[in-house]
Amino acid sequence: MNDFLHRPGFFGTSANFAADFTLVMMILIAALFSVGVFLAVKKKYEQHRWVQTAAASLNAFMVLWMMILPYRDFVAPGIPAQLGEKFHAITTLHAFVGFFALTFGLFVTLRGNGLVPKALKFKNYKLFMRIAYGMYMLTTLLGIWVYLTWFVNNPNPPTY
Ligand code: HEM
Repeated sequence: MNDFLHRPGFFGTSANFAADFTLVMMILIAALFSVGVFLAVKKKYEQHRWVQTAAASLNAFMVLWMMILPYRDFVAPGIPAQLGEKFHAITTLHAFVGFFALTFGLFVTLRGNGLVPKALKFKNYKLFMRIAYGMYMLTTLLGIWVYLTWFVNNPNPPTY
């Protein structure tokens, strides 16, 4: 499995298979979130809840599986000294916004499934869900920027 993930990717950039696969998965998950929004607009709230729960769970799984370790190994050691460099700045901005998207998104998902304590039961669903969706989309765009910075025209791409 490890060898499989670390063989060259399929987009012809310097990325390995894992990074190309992650890119495709994160774009598909963003599309799934958008399908969920469409279902809410159509007032199909039960399907909306299932689709967004699946997307938020898949998102969390992919971040924990594919992003935490490269951040720890290639970026964290350079913080804060190398924050002025594009590689570190963009990835850290992505990780920062992504952390809030992930935690806020999971919180809204739990609320949507009736799984939070009474004190945290917000009622203005629309506002909370719009913020969560916006943050997921913003983080995905920043993630694509991270991919381009790491693996396209980078003379010293991270290898792992
Ligand atoms: C909603 C949450 C998140 C979304 C939607 C997201 C999305 C993405 C996308 C689309 C990529 C490009 C694919 C790639 O380069 O493999 C990426 C890469 C990356 N992300 Fe995230 N991300 C999220 C959260 C985070 C968090 C919390 C961290 C902090 C640890 C993080 C760290 C990274 C790193 C280090 C990469 C480059 C990894 C690699 O290429 O193997 N991301 N992310």
